[in-house]
Amino acid sequence: MTTKIEKICDLPGVGPAAEEKLIAGGFASLEAIAVASPGELSTTAGFGESTARKIIQAAREAMNIGFESAKESLAKRVKMIKITTGSKAIDDLLGGGIESQSITEVYGRFGSGKTQWCFQLCVTAQLPKEKGGLGGKVIYIDSENSFRPERVVNIAKRYGMDPDKVLQNIMVGRAYNADHQMLLADKAKEKVEEDPTIKLLIVDSLTAHFRAEFTGRGQLADRQQKLNRHMYMLIKLAESKNLAVLVTNQVMDRPDVLFGDPTVPIGGNIVAHASKTRLYLRKGKGETHVAKLVDSPYLPDGEAIYKVTAEGIIDE
Ligand SMILES: Nc1ncnc2c1ncn2[C@@H]1O[C@H](COP(=O)(O)OP(=O)(O)OP(=O)(O)O)[C@@H](O)[C@H]1O
Ligand SMILES: [Mg+2]
Repeated sequence: MTTKIEKICDLPGVGPAAEEKLIAGGFASLEAIAVASPGELSTTAGFGESTARKIIQAAREAMNIGFESAKESLAKRVKMIKITTGSKAIDDLLGGGIESQSITEVYGRFGSGKTQWCFQLCVTAQLPKEKGGLGGKVIYIDSENSFRPERVVNIAKRYGMDPDKVLQNIMVGRAYNADHQMLLADKAKEKVEEDPTIKLLIVDSLTAHFRAEFTGRGQLADRQQKLNRHMYMLIKLAESKNLAVLVTNQVMDRPDVLFGDPTVPIGGNIVAHASKTRLYLRKGKGETHVAKLVDSPYLPDGEAIYKVTAEGIIDE
């Protein structure tokens, strides 16, 4: 008979000393262990490679990572909720708005409007359902010190909402580095578990700290591993709590692209796979902005043109 694995010390081969080392090394949950690499666990807690492999496998099984029936998957999708972006053109592009249960990523150059999307969604997530919101609270992880309450106040006024109440329902955490950002995400998980009225989690920016801290070529694998763990945790949270997760991402120019747009989002495959809905933001003609839907699993690719104003995102 196998015992049920609910805690780290239930994992095969993990005694109290190893558990302590794992937690101190940042592997404080079954989730974190499930997405770790055998090498990382060996270094952290002194396991042999094959033991580390077994531990990871057990953590994955305990978390039931893998298959679910199509029926279960449909039942989950029925519960999915969407938040309006303030622009009908964008909502139509997204089949209704920013959805719960998965990560939506907006990426683009400096000043392309990523943070403005975050302000907008902070407010519209709080609208009642009949007005395109979730009537929910918001957690905002700010890694660039760019949260501006006065912008939120302006947007709230547009919807006739009480700005003080709107601000009260947004919990802002400033992330000082990548580890701190991951810690804030753990805290966010606790908060969401305590308070089911939290319906939106924002991370602005998802990648800036990771990009700044892991600069050398030799550090790329470490960075990706860490980002993977971070995003995996966000996905689990989105899925299990019917939460919408909005993240922003920067872009870089690929020198090897000679024709077309050389801009690619940061984070490679890890971020690409973890974000279910990806939108590429850029400035359009005159005062307009353009959001392009990229690689959606069930929506046609396309673009929406909108404006960013003092009152937030509006149709052209
Ligand atoms: N009050 C406002 N009224 C009108 N437009 C605004 C207002 N505030 C910001 N904007 C628009 O938003 C743009 C800045 O967008 P934002 O700060 O969201 O960029 P970002 O993509 O987050 O950039 P970064 O990568 O530097 O974080 C401005 O260039 C302007 O077009
Ligand atoms: Mg920004």
